[in-house]
Amino acid sequence: MPEEIIDLNAIVVNRQPINPLNTPKEVTFNQVHSILYGDPSTKLIYDSAQKYFNKAFDPSYPNTSLKKELFSLIIQKIHASLKLQFVVEIGSFTGNSASNIGNVLKKSYPGSFLLCIDTWLGDLNMWVNKGVWQHLSVSEDGRPTVYYQFLTNIVKQNLTKIVLPASMTSIIGARFLQTYQFHPQVIYLDSAHEQGETLIELSLYWNLLQPGGILIGDDWSWRSVRCDVKKFSYMKNLTIQHVENTWVIKKPIN
Ligand SMILES: C[S@@+](CC[C@H](N)C(=O)[O-])C[C@H]1O[C@@H](n2cnc3c(N)ncnc32)[C@H](O)[C@@H]1O
Repeated sequence: MPEEIIDLNAIVVNRQPINPLNTPKEVTFNQVHSILYGDPSTKLIYDSAQKYFNKAFDPSYPNTSLKKELFSLIIQKIHASLKLQFVVEIGSFTGNSASNIGNVLKKSYPGSFLLCIDTWLGDLNMWVNKGVWQHLSVSEDGRPTVYYQFLTNIVKQNLTKIVLPASMTSIIGARFLQTYQFHPQVIYLDSAHEQGETLIELSLYWNLLQPGGILIGDDWSWRSVRCDVKKFSYMKNLTIQHVENTWVIKKPIN
């Protein structure tokens, strides 16, 4: 069994590989916004949120497990020496869990922010079983418009300086973070939960996580999730903890 499932330094874009032993740098909302969309003091990504699809605030997506209280409880597990500055969520959909994370950060961790990596194209259950189909909000020409619901929900919760969207696949998102050597202290994985893809996500995001940080994820009750999380923890000799339907793996500090 290979020790590393994926080589994080094998990045396709033309950039020098960066020494993985570098001390983690502090990363800010403005820095990542500037890289992705330009200077936020000139134009914030949310400024045109209602230009194409005029959505009303809608927090009614029913399947969000990560409530504010649960997130507050779980982040106590990061190592005491770490400053909680940067959280990444993979799979944000309408922005319910992102809002819960964002509100906790805003209240208790000044200067911190959340990067939301999502294609905003949905998952298999939505397309096949039409589960929460109305929330995917597919336009008549076949394109999901839930991204604009996400933007509206974040605007309406006054979290536009705390929560930053990145419309990318989970793999591109991980490679993006690796390119810039941005290392979160907390990563929340709630994407498609497809077996195999989850293992790749675990491997990529584990390597990005700051030592002492925590990798957490939704839907321990899904067989595909359990299979890949167990496989990953076995390969890495790690312990899985559970809080309700959320699984947690702590990254050793050294
Ligand atoms: C169940 S929803 C997330 C729900 C949200 N975390 C909450 O609790 O409110 C799953 C999300 O994962 C996204 N997704 C699925 N596969 C993905 C991938 N490979 N990369 C990035 N996002 C993905 C979908 O677009 C969808 O928005």
